[in-house]
Amino acid sequence: MIPLSVPHLNGNEWEYVKDCLDTGWISSAGSYVNRFEQMIAEYTGARYGVACMNGTAGLHLAQLLSGVKQGDHVIAPNITFVATLNAVTYTGAEPILVDVNPENWQMDLDLLEDFLGKNAYPGNPGAGEEEGRYYLQSTRRPLKAIVPVHVLGNVGDMDKLLSIALKYNLAVIEDSTESLGSFYKGKHTGRFGKFGVFSFNGNKIISAGGGGMMVTDDEELAKKAKHLTTQAKASPEEYYHDEIGYNYRLVNVLAAIGVAQMEQFPALLANKRKMDAFYRSELAGVGDITFQQVPDGVETNCWLFTFKTARMWELLQFLNNNGVQSRPFWVPMHSLPMFAKKIYVSQDNVAAGIYESCISIPSSGGITQQELEEVVEQIKHFYNR
Ligand SMILES: Cc1ncc(COP(=O)(O)O)c(C=O)c1O
Repeated sequence: MIPLSVPHLNGNEWEYVKDCLDTGWISSAGSYVNRFEQMIAEYTGARYGVACMNGTAGLHLAQLLSGVKQGDHVIAPNITFVATLNAVTYTGAEPILVDVNPENWQMDLDLLEDFLGKNAYPGNPGAGEEEGRYYLQSTRRPLKAIVPVHVLGNVGDMDKLLSIALKYNLAVIEDSTESLGSFYKGKHTGRFGKFGVFSFNGNKIISAGGGGMMVTDDEELAKKAKHLTTQAKASPEEYYHDEIGYNYRLVNVLAAIGVAQMEQFPALLANKRKMDAFYRSELAGVGDITFQQVPDGVETNCWLFTFKTARMWELLQFLNNNGVQSRPFWVPMHSLPMFAKKIYVSQDNVAAGIYESCISIPSSGGITQQELEEVVEQIKHFYNR
């Protein structure tokens, strides 16, 4: 079976993990954690990286540190992995789901702009509302943050998103979990708002087994983030904790894998981009296949190759039965029981159509030319039968 997306562990992983074991530095302190933070910060151009146990934990803390509280509204796309919405919900905030653009599959910003124009109002301090904050008419709750998700490593119109965020005073928290190696107009994802959060779980472009990284340019926020990942312990010796904290710090042994993976990142990224170019050129015009559009100014990391076809379910079964591991796209958030009653901003429910037609095919960082050719051959065979 050609796997969908598996880690490529061909560098110093063994050596660095052995070093942790030999020295006893396997837990939440150790030099690899610091090194990993520095490497991600340096690569993305951020001033600070704060390692955490996984991307979900990082997204949760990013909400808290952006001031998201119980009862606030947080805006997020309807097509994402569930962790984006879970992290919002951990704070007690109420998500507002926004349908996605049919071409690039990112949050539909025209819809959002229209929705906010018609439904948001500035807070009235006389009525106990915060000055400078916008509220939603139907719920009278504050609009606090927006979470763009760089779905599949692609990036939407960040200029427009930032102008909406500025107009409505929304904190921008980027779910950059899938987009290490993706740039918008030359700037790395994760660097457009208060926080960007990356993930290093098993299927990501680099993997530490599990792990996450918050990036920010704000020194105070970075310190606070680290503090919260370590149970808010205020003193190195004494067990004095000055607020409710979390046990979210990444452990050294996983960071060691992350460091070894980062050393190979340029090669892995180059291979992903080569893979993407190959699939696009070979599958163009095959059956009714269409691709995710990459907007001008976006350099994507080509994380997971996903395309649209009306025969998705049939093709999915065929590929999985013929040695090519494939997966459907995420069930839209508004179709999950936890989020079914949340506000959903949509005209044509584009998300449902994307879910019914999108399929992801093998995209491991270490995928070989022979494997790519086999995948393409099977897909062509399916349509030409
Ligand atoms: C879009 C998105 N958000 C959040 C996450 C959560 O990251 P993690 O699995 O590291 O918690 C992931 C990856 O799993 C993801 O793809």
